Amino acid sequence: MSDSFKIGLAGLGTVGVGVIKMLQQNADVIAARAGRSIEIISVIAGIKAKDRGVDISAYDWANSLEDMAQDQRLDAVIEMVGGSDGEIKSFVETALDNGKHIVTANKALLAHHGYDLAQRAENNNVTIAYEAAVAGGIPIIKSLREGLAGNKINSVYGILNGTCNYILTEMRETGRDFADVLDEAQEKGYAEADPTFDVDGIDAAHKLVLLGALAFGVKPDFDALNIEGIRHITSKDIRYADDLGYRIKLIGMARLSQDGNAMQSIAPCLVSTKSAIAGVEGVFNAVQTNGDFVDQTMMEGRGAGEGPTASSILADIIDLARGNNRLIFGVPTAQLNTAQWQGAEVLSCQCYIHVKAEDKSGVIADITACLKEADVSIDSFIQRGHEDDGSASVVIVTHEARFSDIQKAVKIVEGLACVLDKPTLLRIEDI
Ligand SMILES: NC(=O)c1ccc[n+]([C@@H]2O[C@H](COP(=O)([O-])OP(=O)(O)OC[C@H]3O[C@@H](n4cnc5c(N)ncnc54)[C@H](OP(=O)(O)O)[C@@H]3O)[C@@H](O)[C@H]2O)c1
Repeated sequence: MSDSFKIGLAGLGTVGVGVIKMLQQNADVIAARAGRSIEIISVIAGIKAKDRGVDISAYDWANSLEDMAQDQRLDAVIEMVGGSDGEIKSFVETALDNGKHIVTANKALLAHHGYDLAQRAENNNVTIAYEAAVAGGIPIIKSLREGLAGNKINSVYGILNGTCNYILTEMRETGRDFADVLDEAQEKGYAEADPTFDVDGIDAAHKLVLLGALAFGVKPDFDALNIEGIRHITSKDIRYADDLGYRIKLIGMARLSQDGNAMQSIAPCLVSTKSAIAGVEGVFNAVQTNGDFVDQTMMEGRGAGEGPTASSILADIIDLARGNNRLIFGVPTAQLNTAQWQGAEVLSCQCYIHVKAEDKSGVIADITACLKEADVSIDSFIQRGHEDDGSASVVIVTHEARFSDIQKAVKIVEGLACVLDKPTLLRIEDI
């Protein structure tokens, strides 16, 4: 294999520039590991004249995405534009139909269209490599598909969004509220101007869908996922959780039980401060897997950014240059099962409940009566803070119960006249 491996780069933003820098700076080790040199033939972005801080003068500027997708010189197209539909989807489809491998960091595209695109890739005898799409620089796709390939995977847990983890960490360390910390995260470039995808859990959900598909050999099914973000978490919740020995983290989890039931959820959860995942702070991500022979493994690293994302893209390019044409979801698409996904309501767990109520006698009795009505028993119960507005916080940790019963109990509590706000209900996950 002496010919160079020829690529086109679409998108020269954060990730695209990182890929060029890494390819230029580490050309020798990359060529040695790939068994041949990697050659950028053409690039494209929105604005040709923009100074990107890297020298792109040696590369052709493609006339359009369509042209790049059809360029007969290219072995692979590296898609670093983003977006899940329209132009970018047809760009990827055309490139696949023209026999080009795709390397992408685009979790949104794959979470929504991964199955159809994987079929299309197989039909054209090429692959879609997406290490960079899940948890940035953490090589979790390779780990699940290759390193753990002999195991039946029972569960995958993760902190899959660095923006949320940064916000929750800052809220805990500084005692500030969500909106305040989000503003700062936007100023520092850790959060987008429109933070919806991050703070409402959608970005983490895109990644979890891909992890679930790969771990369990099922079709990615974004629509089957219940998603809860972190906007409703207050600094008080974080403080009370801390007092109880827990951290609040946005946890993505997918599980497959022995009876074949599959469960996936994205939600803020309490995890013990003693757990490894509780120590994953700031913009870091972590993914923990459990396999039947290997038991537990966990990987932690930067979940986004120029360098970590480029690192994963280059790993995929090297793999392809070596001739490793991997199965996209670990098995041929025809063998992917359709999971009957269930949400967290089927779980049995302890929960944290925070109720803001009027600070007067009888309130606690009313709240406990509601829990009793739904057959939920209490492990601990603390009344916290007497606020200037005449309210008090009641913090409850339940005994283990079916999550749907605890949800029912909290609905009843919410209807009490003395309850001033929608209570916060969070699962306590024993990770
Ligand atoms: N940033 C991260 O840390 C990170 C981490 C993991 C995954 N990802 C994923 O990687 C992808 C790229 O992210 P990014 O942060 O690099 O985005 P970005 O900085 O916004 O860059 C997007 C690039 O796409 C170009 N572009 C936009 N529309 C185009 C079009 N119609 N045709 C050709 N080029 C077009 C832009 O051109 P101009 O520069 O001329 O505007 C820009 O160079 C996304 O799918 C994202 O979810 C990003």
